[in-house]
Amino acid sequence: MKEAREKIESVKSTEELNEIRVEFLGKKGRVSLLMKKIKEISPEERKEYGKSVNKLKRTIEDLISKKAEELKILEKKKMFERMWVDVTIPGARRKTGHEHPVMRIWREMEDIFVSMGYEVVEGPEIEDTWHNFDALNTPEWHPARDEHDSFYFSDELLLRTHTSPVQIRTMLSRKPPIAIVSPGKVYRRDYDATHLPVFHQLEGLYVDRKVNVGHLKFTLSEFARKMFGEGTEIRLRPSFFPFTEPSFEVDVYLEGYGWLEILGAGMVDPEVFKNVGYDPEEWSGFAFGMGIDRIAMLKYRITDIRELVKNDARFLSSY
Ligand code: DAH
Repeated sequence: MKEAREKIESVKSTEELNEIRVEFLGKKGRVSLLMKKIKEISPEERKEYGKSVNKLKRTIEDLISKKAEELKILEKKKMFERMWVDVTIPGARRKTGHEHPVMRIWREMEDIFVSMGYEVVEGPEIEDTWHNFDALNTPEWHPARDEHDSFYFSDELLLRTHTSPVQIRTMLSRKPPIAIVSPGKVYRRDYDATHLPVFHQLEGLYVDRKVNVGHLKFTLSEFARKMFGEGTEIRLRPSFFPFTEPSFEVDVYLEGYGWLEILGAGMVDPEVFKNVGYDPEEWSGFAFGMGIDRIAMLKYRITDIRELVKNDARFLSSY
């Protein structure tokens, strides 16, 4: 009895207690053995013997069930301890990504022009020489057609060198008035601190009756103010593009930089209108094209364009 009590008391788990239950109360357990011994006891003592074995059995049963209760409570307590969480510990902050600076500027540029009533259209990156050059009044001898600037698939197919061919595709597929911008990838055989072989441009085209340079200048200065901040000034310098006449290079004044060229623009050349079947006497318009990466570099003050494509998360996450 003493042994049973000690054993039961020192038990640490339900499993151990079950073993002890079998040891004492099982079919072949120690109490059963004592029961069997009753045959060896003299008849006059048998009654007393039986009684005391039964009492022992009940006592052990009681001890075991009491212990089982205790263990159940203890094990529950342990489980709750394991499950305990300190809700006051600050969480491990997960780093979330964000748009690439170039994609952000791309989207901002679209938003600015959409707010002025322009529609966003896209064109193919693989172009034919007619859309990319000829229709844009860019004759065979023009340096842009030189093999060294362009990636050709064949004599007639190339990766577009600018987004201007989307002007042609748009004018061929609809009638004026037209107000579109066309963002996208363009390709040239260039690679240094300010040029990538793949970069992004946004083309703009506005065609209607009686469009003049004033409309062009207002539209672009509105864009500059929305992109670089209220009060941002622009200036137009005479330039040349085969598809516009007159043509301009447009500069923006940025604090700390001075005047910086941001885009090319001009009044749509009558030859271009003829190429798409528009009567240049009736229709007039302006066009412009700018580098999205370049605007991103100016806005975020990035000096080496190659940083934009290295995909160094430390660099990208600072914008
Ligand atoms: N396509 C020219 C380029 O890639 C940019 C450009 C200049 C586009 C003048 C125009 C424009 O639409 O009118 O350098």
